[in-house]
Amino acid sequence: MSKPSILVARAIFPKVLDKLAQHFNVEANADDRDWAPHELARRLQGKVGALTTGGQRIDAALLATCPQLCIVANMAVGYNNFDLDAMTAAGVQGTNTPDVLTETTADFGFSLLMAAARRITESEHFLRGGRWTQWRYDMFAGAEIHGSRLGIIGMGRIGQGIARRGAHGFGMEVQYHNRSRLPDALEAECKARYVSKDELLRTSDHVVLVLPYTPEAHHTIGARELALMQPTATLVNIARGGIVDDVALAAALRERRIAAAGLDVFEGEPRVHPDLLALHNVVLTPHIASATVRTRQAMANLAADNLIAFFDGRGALTPVNHPPLLRRQESA
Ligand code: DGY
Repeated sequence: MSKPSILVARAIFPKVLDKLAQHFNVEANADDRDWAPHELARRLQGKVGALTTGGQRIDAALLATCPQLCIVANMAVGYNNFDLDAMTAAGVQGTNTPDVLTETTADFGFSLLMAAARRITESEHFLRGGRWTQWRYDMFAGAEIHGSRLGIIGMGRIGQGIARRGAHGFGMEVQYHNRSRLPDALEAECKARYVSKDELLRTSDHVVLVLPYTPEAHHTIGARELALMQPTATLVNIARGGIVDDVALAAALRERRIAAAGLDVFEGEPRVHPDLLALHNVVLTPHIASATVRTRQAMANLAADNLIAFFDGRGALTPVNHPPLLRRQESA
């Protein structure tokens, strides 16, 4: 029996490609270029599965051109590149990579918070620029981390990981806002108190955003929300671009209406708004919160295993939708 054909839309670990090649005819993205939608559609012709990253939009228009496509496995926990309703309506299985990146991403969120609040990259630029001539009492004096109040918006697995780090590691008072309240036992374990979004913004020393991107989450933090924050506060976004209004944030940072920010994600990335690039009180990283070798390998393996399990007839391991009628390889 011939192997099913799949497309791997961006470069991944060679070992994972080798594993996929044992089960599938694989077309890989050899030069790792981000394909335009029409090129992605062309390459998906005759493919029953695809391994994507967050950069490939899977929507109704694309699905209409690829009637053989049965499953798209995203190598990311976020899947806002999927039009999930369109995929479900078309009977296309979507999967993501939860759990394997939780602790690594929480580590990074905490690092970005510390780097921004303690002015680490700003002071390093100063040193490398040859401007360090003497010690000074208030040189790069930043905001306290230990014992301060941490506000987390989006209390899923990664948010809970950040809460644990803050409460147990740094003695922080943790408060959170989420679509729904956590069960009492989980709140107790994270030592976290549920508050309204506005109260959280008004009363937190540091605010970390970890909520999924949906149309309703667009500009969760805009000019109104930034105006509620304290002038000494730090804002960290490791969720998705578009959750923060980057122009409003740049204005708030420039005018010192908040003290600092740490951003791993941007509206329209990989472009970064020039107003942010011009500022020193923001730490900017290129969407790397899950980027350790071990975690990225685990994410790639889980995405591959979803494809393998689906075509083995075991069903997707980590589905993000449940189409009532799934497209099947036989219909190809
Ligand atoms: C994720 O897993 O969602 C990360 O942001 C990488 O895209």
